[in-house]
Amino acid sequence: MEVTEKVLEKAKGLIKVNVSDEILKGLLANLPDVQMMSMVLPMMAEALKDVPEGTDAAQAVALVMKKMKKKGEGKSESAPGNAKQSTRAYFDGIWLEQRLMDAQIPTMEMQLYGETFRSPIMTAALSHLKTFNPDVEDAMVQYAKAAARAGYVHWVGMGENEEFARIMETGARTIRIIKPYADEEKIYSQIHFAEERGALAVGMDIDHTFTEEGNIDVVMGEEMAIKSNAVLRSYVQETKLPFVIKGVLSVHDAAACAEIGAKGIVVSHHGGRMNYAVPPLMVLPEIVKEVGKVMPVFVDCGICSGADAYKAMALGATAVGVGTHLIPYLRKGGADAVRERMEDMTRELKGFMANTGVKDVESFDATVVHMWK
Ligand SMILES: Cc1cc2nc3c(=O)[nH]c(=O)nc-3n(C[C@H](O)[C@H](O)[C@H](O)COP(=O)(O)O)c2cc1C
Repeated sequence: MEVTEKVLEKAKGLIKVNVSDEILKGLLANLPDVQMMSMVLPMMAEALKDVPEGTDAAQAVALVMKKMKKKGEGKSESAPGNAKQSTRAYFDGIWLEQRLMDAQIPTMEMQLYGETFRSPIMTAALSHLKTFNPDVEDAMVQYAKAAARAGYVHWVGMGENEEFARIMETGARTIRIIKPYADEEKIYSQIHFAEERGALAVGMDIDHTFTEEGNIDVVMGEEMAIKSNAVLRSYVQETKLPFVIKGVLSVHDAAACAEIGAKGIVVSHHGGRMNYAVPPLMVLPEIVKEVGKVMPVFVDCGICSGADAYKAMALGATAVGVGTHLIPYLRKGGADAVRERMEDMTRELKGFMANTGVKDVESFDATVVHMWK
């Protein structure tokens, strides 16, 4: 794209690392349009950290672009093994019977951890919304307000206690997902802070431990660590809140979560972090069979309609998280646009429930589901 002085100024505000104008111009020239800046510049900033000091500008740009290309490999929608794409295809391959004899208008309330919510549709655990959407005023708080105003369960991902406090001030009943930080003190501090501020539950996304190359991941500059079952059990025992494990995609892990006393799991591949990750709905029925009687089984990844939510619930999910799909609404109309979209999705879900003979969110029946062969 064309790098004007105005574009360069905006980019300087977004990249948040010390970088010469020459390098920044070189990087920006590789972007297709200005809309991409807020999303891509933070990743470029990460990649720049590995460029040795003193590297000349052209070389630095080339190194960053090489890293960006590698990051994108296997991630394009058409690449074999792309888990987001196969998850979409799996949703679209599920068809539903109608069941209209003795049908009734469904009720949508959901009971979770002793509280009542107006829908089983929830926000997914997002983070860093400000970085990727700099034009949205206090995006993480807007996202929480949407769930608070709707009376839906809210989830939040990586972030500091100060941000979490502002999220809790919205009144959103929030489940806080803490990263598997190497820094154990930070984990305990975040668990205790969540308790003090009255979170609905806490948990950890165990699927953010490794890089694609099998090394320990560094997320936004913070080192992660492998958390053994014993360590996860110690978090479960430490907190009086329900502890949820996010990133479960096998009966193997679900059974281990039950064994350590987790009070919920999220069946998720975290938006396709691993190529060839199985679509969550493909493993959901076996996971529900294994642990569904002892804990809620949540699902996220690719849910963007009431039909998707229905399919997950029919296959045994307790409730579903919606993340990426809500971001454009947040950008366009803030909290109220997100709330409206989630409420629309609930209405769609209710429509499917009415037409398939499901009277409430506890009464889904997997036998309405047919896989397109
Ligand atoms: C911008 C963004 C930030 C995210 N941050 C976190 C996080 O901090 N912790 C977490 O557990 N998941 C995080 N996720 C993953 C989501 O919770 C979710 O698992 C994933 O996006 C798949 O759901 P979706 O397709 O509805 O977005 C993030 C996703 C996005 C798009």
